[in-house]
Amino acid sequence: MKNLLKVAEKVSYKKLSDNYLFSEIRQKTSSFKDADGREILDLSIGDIAYALPPSSVNAMKKAAEEMGDNARKRGYSPENGYPFLLNAIASYYKNLGVKIDTDEILVGDGTKSDISLFPDIFDRSNELIAEPCYPVYKDAALMRGNKLYSVCGNKQNGFLPEPDGIEKKPYVITLCSPNNPTGSAFDKEKLKKWVDFALETGSLILYDAAYSAFSGDGAVKTVFSVKNADECAVEFCSFSKFAGFTGIRCSWFVVPEKIKLSGGKTLLSLVKRKRSATFNGVSYVTQRGAEAALSFKGRKECEILIKKYLSAANKLKDFFSKTNLFFTGGDNCPYLWIECPNTKNSFEFFENLLVKTAVVCTPGVGFGNAGEGYFRLSAFQKEDTVNEVLNRFSSSDIFKDSTSGVLSKN
Ligand code: MLT
Repeated sequence: MKNLLKVAEKVSYKKLSDNYLFSEIRQKTSSFKDADGREILDLSIGDIAYALPPSSVNAMKKAAEEMGDNARKRGYSPENGYPFLLNAIASYYKNLGVKIDTDEILVGDGTKSDISLFPDIFDRSNELIAEPCYPVYKDAALMRGNKLYSVCGNKQNGFLPEPDGIEKKPYVITLCSPNNPTGSAFDKEKLKKWVDFALETGSLILYDAAYSAFSGDGAVKTVFSVKNADECAVEFCSFSKFAGFTGIRCSWFVVPEKIKLSGGKTLLSLVKRKRSATFNGVSYVTQRGAEAALSFKGRKECEILIKKYLSAANKLKDFFSKTNLFFTGGDNCPYLWIECPNTKNSFEFFENLLVKTAVVCTPGVGFGNAGEGYFRLSAFQKEDTVNEVLNRFSSSDIFKDSTSGVLSKN
């Protein structure tokens, strides 16, 4: 190496692991060749298996045509979103019985970036995460160099940790429900404990609701259905999972107007100030597709996708119900979170599963230390894929010792 820069990385970056979880899994699987020549079935990342809702595809085609016409083309988008999409999102909340003003909504290009960049506004904050969690929360907090606290999910609390016993001071708290990776979901009573804790300590909750469209009866669909959450919570939501936008990129977040920081400024004004300097909005074509996903017809089409993914989750759930393994998820979110059989080392299990069945899972420790001893399966899969996965599970010995009955073949 001839030349060494005289600029150095932030000290805090030294705390990061070498690779981002899903890049590491990709690396490990790309070099794998199954001895029996079977196709590798990837149930690690929560990516889509079905095409996008037709309403969104048609709306994007139409919008692309407009861009090719001098009279109808659009330039820069308003950085926080076009009014047509903001209105559609406000109506989404109205249907949930919650009043959100369009001025409080900001459209983004995915919850990954929206939520990971959000706390940059705060000065040396204490960040509190509920582990196991989406690895982005922890990586981003470490990059900022903030003090990181965690509260742990486990068998006893059903992977729904509560704030009891946490030292009372102000935090930026990140919660995700229905949860990635565990699939468990808060009911109103449990979430209220977090809202009350935030109000008591002057903390802010960043509530990741990316999977809320999958939640069934009893699970919370929006944090704002909890009393006074609009004084202490920001909600993040994504088109990726319910409308299949993982490759299109569109999301939104809601910053209630009434939240004020200790300096007296509203959080919303600071978020908008930051955004106007750092973000040029999401493409017009994308926003038209997103608007269509929230239309009456679009929502019906999304419901069909949601049902398919939840039905895939149900099949996996049925399989694991017949084993002695502890698991969560599958009802409110298409993820299953399962105890590793015969080992506490989730990477060892990941390798074992790959070699024996050519199925890729996500090792639980990738979601934080509280995830060690567990693995995650994504049910964002076609029915045929899940049937094949279950055939392989049944004919291999990998879950044999943990089986309480005879596993039926699909
Ligand atoms: C996951 O598999 O945890 C997520 O889908 C990855 C992502 O959304 O970035």
